[in-house]
Amino acid sequence: MNAKRNRHIRIFDTTLRDGEQTPGVTLTIEDKIEIATQLSKLGVDVIEAGSPMSSDGEKKVVKAIAKEKLECEVCALARATKGDIDKAIECDVDLIHLFIPTSPVQMKYAVNLSPNQVLSSTAKMIDYIKKHGLKCEFSPMDATRSNMTFLKKVCKTAETTGANIINIPDTVGIMTPKTTSEFIGEIKSEINIPISIHCHDDFGMAVANSLAAVEAGAQQVHCTVNGLGERAGNASLEEVVMALHMIYKIKTGVNTRLLYSTSRIVSTLTGLFVQANKAIVGENAFAHESGIHTRGVTVKPLTFEPIKPELVGRKRKLVAGKLAGTRGIKAELEEVGIHVNDKQLKEIVKRIKNLGDKGKMVTDADLIAITSAVIGEVIAEEKIVDLYDLAVMTGIKVIPTASVRLVLDGTEYSAAETGVGPVDAALKAIQKLTQNLAKITLNEYRLEAITGGSNAVAEVVIKVEDEKGNIISARAAREDIVMASVEAMINGINKCLIKNRKQGK
Ligand code: KIV
Ligand code: ZN
Repeated sequence: MNAKRNRHIRIFDTTLRDGEQTPGVTLTIEDKIEIATQLSKLGVDVIEAGSPMSSDGEKKVVKAIAKEKLECEVCALARATKGDIDKAIECDVDLIHLFIPTSPVQMKYAVNLSPNQVLSSTAKMIDYIKKHGLKCEFSPMDATRSNMTFLKKVCKTAETTGANIINIPDTVGIMTPKTTSEFIGEIKSEINIPISIHCHDDFGMAVANSLAAVEAGAQQVHCTVNGLGERAGNASLEEVVMALHMIYKIKTGVNTRLLYSTSRIVSTLTGLFVQANKAIVGENAFAHESGIHTRGVTVKPLTFEPIKPELVGRKRKLVAGKLAGTRGIKAELEEVGIHVNDKQLKEIVKRIKNLGDKGKMVTDADLIAITSAVIGEVIAEEKIVDLYDLAVMTGIKVIPTASVRLVLDGTEYSAAETGVGPVDAALKAIQKLTQNLAKITLNEYRLEAITGGSNAVAEVVIKVEDEKGNIISARAAREDIVMASVEAMINGINKCLIKNRKQGK
């Protein structure tokens, strides 16, 4: 039996601690509990819930998460002081993550301690934690810029005093896979308790370095969802886990099918957008546009898909654009139940490429609109929802209000709503009128491009979701932002309704 195949790596999630240190991110107690619950479902081994010493509110959050009785261990961060440790103990966590700087620059300028003081605090504080019956994970902060002889001495002290695991932080992200591997090898030659790794992404190597540490024998990896964390962030949980599972064939307890939904929850609650080309969870991670790719994946997914999208809770997306191929566009249309003949398909591809050449982003709605025109359907006749009239009122002393008249399946209806602005009010009125046809929610709204002066064209791109979880994008461009928003919304609603009716629902 291959020993590597049986290896299990612990996933220590620090989204709620180092992740919350991401500039601009602050989470409420409810947000943190929601993320912790999702992380527990995801199957991480440990959640670092926060730093109780930082504020009374933070202490309350950590205590609340510990009280949730999650499937995983709950950990609190503490500096090497009794005050910090007492606050962590009062939170009833399973383990305390104790840290103290060991690099010359941080010992001198961050905490003003001599190496001997660091050594004695390490021993005293670990002893204090152990005497309270808690597990202790010990981090020599800035380990990778520390003197190796001194670092080994600190780690040995931690081990002999009773630390359960030693975590090696690459605090400022200066390691490479090679130096990380050598570093972990050195520490392992001295230490018998499990070793963990904590990498930052300052040079974009956090994931690679974490994997190198695993190769060198580390048993645990610190990571964060979407790679959140101080400065450039920490090692991304989804990337570390998928690489371990698929490239190294090393197991973790993570249910990979929940990776995408977890990423979405964290992105929504932190307000931090995930870049489109981010591995595993980015919008384009499973999207194919060029002809050779779309042809390849529709015939044999393995051609251009190293990971099955379903394995991480995603779906393949074939994108219509100037690089699109005939087969990809055909497959995309068939996915929404539209079948075209070869001649029609050729014309559709030609028009999409023309749009792409003009620099236009071709959304699903464009593809359907083009296809409808090409196959001779009059788009107006296809519309289930049509705008008859719109009036908006806004100002300093009036509540923004919109009144909308729509034709739904041939009958005219009207409604008025208020909102934070005229766009919000108009979209709410549309949703109110169409809710009996289908419950469609607005997931994303972007004012994509505004060119020129005050008569500029505003381009609104939206994503709507129907009750079955189908997500559809739509867009509209107008000189009037409210009109562009309303048209995009109606476009999206029509697309959802047409798709459902074509599928016989
Ligand atoms: O990056 C770091 O050094 C840390 C410590 C608290 C472990 O986050
Ligand atoms: Zn860190």
